[in-house]
Amino acid sequence: MVKVDLSGAEQFLQEGGIDYTLAAEAHKTLAEGTGAGADFTGWMAFPRYMKEHELDRIIAAAEKIRSRSKALVVIGIGGSYLGARGAIELLRPLPAEDDPQVFFVGNGLSSDYLCDLLDRLGDKDFDVNVISKSGTTLEPAVGFRIFRELLAKKYGAEADKHIFATTDAARGVLKGLANENGWESFVIPDDIGGRFSVLTAVGLLPMAVAGIDVRKVIDCAIEEFEALDLRSPENPAWQYAAARQQLYRKGYGVEILGCYEPSFRFMAEWWKQLYGESEGKDGIGIFPASVEYTADLHSMGQYVQEGVRMLFESIVRFDKSLRSYPIPFEESNADGLNYVAGRDMSDVSSVAADAVKAAHISGGVPNIQINVPKRDEAGFASLVCFFEMACGISGYISGVNPFNQPGVEAYKKNMFRMLGKPGAV
Ligand code: PA5
Repeated sequence: MVKVDLSGAEQFLQEGGIDYTLAAEAHKTLAEGTGAGADFTGWMAFPRYMKEHELDRIIAAAEKIRSRSKALVVIGIGGSYLGARGAIELLRPLPAEDDPQVFFVGNGLSSDYLCDLLDRLGDKDFDVNVISKSGTTLEPAVGFRIFRELLAKKYGAEADKHIFATTDAARGVLKGLANENGWESFVIPDDIGGRFSVLTAVGLLPMAVAGIDVRKVIDCAIEEFEALDLRSPENPAWQYAAARQQLYRKGYGVEILGCYEPSFRFMAEWWKQLYGESEGKDGIGIFPASVEYTADLHSMGQYVQEGVRMLFESIVRFDKSLRSYPIPFEESNADGLNYVAGRDMSDVSSVAADAVKAAHISGGVPNIQINVPKRDEAGFASLVCFFEMACGISGYISGVNPFNQPGVEAYKKNMFRMLGKPGAV
C-alpha cells in the first residue's frame, strides 16, 4: 500500500487533527453500494474477475502483437486511453529495442499530429487496438476509420487479424463491427466507467504489448483493494480523501499533483481525469492540476510559493530509485559543484524534494505526501487502487455522484449539430 504523510497539511486544518467521520460514512456507502452511481463501482472487485477470465487471452494477444509487429496503434480517448498511456510512460518510458512502440491516436482531432505519426509509423508492421465503450465517440471513431483504411491497404484480406477491439460486451457500433468482421474483442464491463477502467483490458492490453508484467499488476491490485477495505483512519485512502476535502472547505480549491519522476507525467493526466470528472459537478469540486518537479519549479515555482493562496500540493514520492548515477568529482571544480560530487542524483533529488516541501509549507501551501515503495508494477497497481478508492470516498464526502459525467455532453451536442450529424439538434 502507499503511505500518506499528512504532517505537511495538519497545521492548515482544524485543531485536534483530521476528522474521519465523513470518510467512514463515505467508505461504507461505497462498499455497500448504497450511494449515487453505485452501479458503476465494479472496479473494486474486478481485478479478481480479470485474473480468472480475460487475463490469459489479453497476454496471448499481446504476445502475438509483440512477435509480429513493430508498433501498436492504440485508438481511444479519456478513460479509454489515459490509464494505458500513464502506465506505459511510468514503467516503460523508453521502449526497449525489441519492444513494439505504442502510439496513441484518436485522443484529439489534429491532422498535424496524425500526419506526423503516420510518418513515424512509416512501413512498420503494426496492429491496432481500438478502445471505446460507447463506440460512438467522434475522435476515436475518426481515427479508427483512418487506420482501418490503412490496414486494408497494407494487409489486404489479413487486415481484420490486426484489429483488437476493446468495447462493451454486447452493445454499440464497435461491438457490432467487431462481430461482423471477426475482430478479437475484449470487454469493458458495464459497471466500470471509463476513468476507472485502467485495470480492465482497456489498460492491460496496451500495457502488456509494451512489455509490462500485467499478471503482476493484477495480482498486486487484488491485494491492494483488499487492503484498502480497511475501515479505519489508518487507511491511506481515508487519509487522503478526508484531508483534501477538509482543505477544500478551508478555501484550498486547487490541488496540484506533483512528482519528481518525469515519467509520472501521464499518470498525472490520468489522475486529473479521475478526480476532475468525478468531483467537478453541481457547482463544486477541487480543481486538479499537475506539475513535474524539479522542472516546473523553474516555471510554476514562483506562483506556488507566492501566488493566490488557494493551492495545496499532493506529492508522489517513490522511496527508491530504480537506478543510480553518482555526480562525478572534478579536480578543478571549475563549475563549483564538488559539494555534491559523489552523491547519487536520486539522493540530491530527495533533498530537493524535502527543501521544496518545507519552502512551500512556509509559503502557505499545505502538503500531502504520498509515498510509493518503487516505480514498478506493484507501485503502479498500488497507486491506481489508492487513487480510485480515495476518489470514490472523496466524491461521496463532497456529496456528488462520483461516477457520472453529465457535463461532458454539452460540447458534444453543439459539435454534432455544427458538424451536421443526422438527428443532432
Ligand atoms: O470516463 C469516461 O467515461 C470518459 O472519459 C470516456 O472514457 C471517454 O469519453 C471515451 O468514451 P468511450 O470509451 O465511450 O469512447
